[in-house]
Amino acid sequence: MGKLFEPTLVGDIAVRNRIVMAPLTRNRSPGAIPNDLNVEYYRQRASAGLIITEGTAITQQGQGYADVPGLYKPEALDGWKRVTKAVHEAGGKIVVQLWHVGRVSHTSLQPNGAKPVSSTSTIAKTRTYVINADGTGTFTETSEPRALDTAEIAGIVEDFRRAARDAIDAGFDGVEIHGANGYLIDQFLRSGVNDRTDQYGGSIENRARFLFEVVDAVTKEVGAGRTAIRLSPVTPSNDSTDADPQSIFTYVVEGLAKYKLAFIHVVEGQTGGDRNFQQGDKPFDYKALHLAYRKAGGQSDWLVNNGYDRQAAIDAVESGRADLVSFGKPFIANPDLVERLQKDLPLNRPDQATFYGGGSNGYTDYPALEEEAA
Ligand SMILES: Cc1cc2nc3c(=O)[nH]c(=O)nc-3n(C[C@H](O)[C@H](O)[C@H](O)COP(=O)(O)O)c2cc1C
Repeated sequence: MGKLFEPTLVGDIAVRNRIVMAPLTRNRSPGAIPNDLNVEYYRQRASAGLIITEGTAITQQGQGYADVPGLYKPEALDGWKRVTKAVHEAGGKIVVQLWHVGRVSHTSLQPNGAKPVSSTSTIAKTRTYVINADGTGTFTETSEPRALDTAEIAGIVEDFRRAARDAIDAGFDGVEIHGANGYLIDQFLRSGVNDRTDQYGGSIENRARFLFEVVDAVTKEVGAGRTAIRLSPVTPSNDSTDADPQSIFTYVVEGLAKYKLAFIHVVEGQTGGDRNFQQGDKPFDYKALHLAYRKAGGQSDWLVNNGYDRQAAIDAVESGRADLVSFGKPFIANPDLVERLQKDLPLNRPDQATFYGGGSNGYTDYPALEEEAA
């Protein structure tokens, strides 16, 4: 069981173990500004080898849900500075997940009530969470998006670059580009969403172009050893489909091989659900994807996610199928997850009712082992 709990170097980031906290949106940063409660939440979880923050909007246009933190206001950067300082003081490492939601948004969250932008002008059959005028929150249908003009895309790439720079200046150890779960980068990748006829649509090369432009800009700005990317090859979240995910994701990882990224984060199966979920006409082969990456010369750590428990994580790392394993829901409920896994002790159960929004209840009040014993 040893290796999972041993230190290693992830790109340029030295970590104390190979257990990663997966990105988890918690909708507890009103005004997009990280606050004291958020500082406490991340500090409590600093024994993870590496924390990946919740999805963090690179611009207001990239916001898709109420009370998600951002990286586009000076006050937000000050808030993040306090988070990164607290995690570092507790001996942890932390990267921020750079998020542009694309069409998974609502006009009420957008600058001047504008339409959200995407690779397409087709509305996503999904819902988002907004705050009403009276302060109450509701789930609502996403708004009709506007397809980005070809000439506008460079501006979004630039937004990713700027956010990555600001993140490093705010003390983050690196950044994870959110390429998963049906958000903007995935809206370009997927054949079932991207209906463009310019150089960003049609062929696999064209649909992956935006992703590579973002990776290029971010790695040039902050260094490949501090850059990572998250992919979810078959996840249907946010109305995201592809006729042949194996082909496009193989092309993507082969192209990523030339960058010495910190890690590639692969969600296996349907994010938060069925690990055997299938898109296209055959089951997705994750082993083949990993092998294609290594064959193309890729050296980054391979981080796996989705429904892992202690034994599955130990097996994945011991067998070499993965270098790192990320846990989502277990980290919500167990601030000291690493110690519990190491000692093979029982885990607290996460309460779904308090996942999104609210205060300390279901956020910073899950007990660590010593608190339970007291
Ligand atoms: C409350 C909640 C919020 C999430 N927010 C994000 C997010 O901001 N970015 C992301 O890439 N995935 C997000 N996910 C997906 C998780 O990172 C992870 O892929 C999923 O929970 C499966 O891992 P697990 O079985 O260990 O929980 C979220 C999941 C949950 C339950």
